[in-house]
Amino acid sequence: MAYQKLSSPSMRIEERTLPGAVIVTRSPGAVEGVMGEVPGALCRLRAFRGRLTLELILIIAPPPGDPASLADCGGNLMNAKEYMSGVFDRASGTYERVGVPFFGPVAAELVRRAAPGPGDHVLDAGCGTGASLVPAAQAVGPTGRVVGLDLAPGMVAAAAAEIDRHGLSQATVLLGDAEQAEELLPGERFDIVLAGMMLYFLPDPLAAVRSLAGLLKPGGRLAASLLVRSSPAEAELLGLVEQALRPYTSGAGSAPFQHTLGGPEEMTRLFEEGGLSGIACADVTFDVAIGAEQVWDWLWSAARRASLESIPESLRAEAREALEASLPRDGFVLERTVRYATGQL
Ligand SMILES: C[S@@+](CC[C@H](N)C(=O)[O-])C[C@H]1O[C@@H](n2cnc3c(N)ncnc32)[C@H](O)[C@@H]1O
Repeated sequence: MAYQKLSSPSMRIEERTLPGAVIVTRSPGAVEGVMGEVPGALCRLRAFRGRLTLELILIIAPPPGDPASLADCGGNLMNAKEYMSGVFDRASGTYERVGVPFFGPVAAELVRRAAPGPGDHVLDAGCGTGASLVPAAQAVGPTGRVVGLDLAPGMVAAAAAEIDRHGLSQATVLLGDAEQAEELLPGERFDIVLAGMMLYFLPDPLAAVRSLAGLLKPGGRLAASLLVRSSPAEAELLGLVEQALRPYTSGAGSAPFQHTLGGPEEMTRLFEEGGLSGIACADVTFDVAIGAEQVWDWLWSAARRASLESIPESLRAEAREALEASLPRDGFVLERTVRYATGQL
């Protein structure tokens, strides 16, 4: 597989070569996205951006799904969306349930900013286990309608269970690709479309914003959130994770993450180019307290699980012990900054 070193004014890149790690971009030569780890990959790059240190493991390849890239990777590089849905499917059992609240508060703030009212119709794209779907359904009440959509079957099942648990007959959840929402919901138009913490998992966020905006009624609102920054404590934690797990895995601490949406103007531009107006962006910082004994479960419960999965199952208990022993007893408080954008059709 052809790959090349990245260069970008906003990133300092340090390259290391390893077997068994990887990722994906949409077009040769551009830093476009990281979708996960795949055995059989060729290179690994580490990028430092702003205050957040993130490991990126990249192959500059043809678009995901391109038969040439699949063949070149010995069949290991599967379609990026399939890969993402697999990671979230396996994470769905513990997602946001390991005693480290983050997605819940972030989603509540998204719904507050989107401000659904009684009777509104809401689409929650990439609804996960229902962190924003549930409060949105409560806000629209029995005369409204909320449709959740997620690519991971486990997430859909978990969201359906939450809908039942809260007795929300106005809510429903569908398995599917948010980029195909128009086909899945023919003729439906919404007062509000939510895209919470999911745009960076899509191969083409602009196309996704355009298609989600296309599902709005005239005057309807799109509201999205993205993690854009964290405090040095997170970089320190991920550094320790990487160090402790290095003997066991090739990519501990790395996350499937789309980085091109982190800059201050990028969300605004994305929404403008997506056909929205009256765009408002705001950054909100959440303090996330995490104990040493929670770190493994926390990584395992969302996208970063991909890197732990590269540890052979027979070594995971040992790796977990090594990780816990290497972390400060007091744990960490991570200050994670989420950018919210809202815009109107
Ligand atoms: C970080 S989670 C966020 C979930 C939820 N919005 C929340 O705030 O808790 C990202 C979610 O996006 C979903 N996802 C990723 N790509 C998707 C796609 N193309 N269409 C629909 N859902 C997708 C994943 O399965 C996952 O549930």
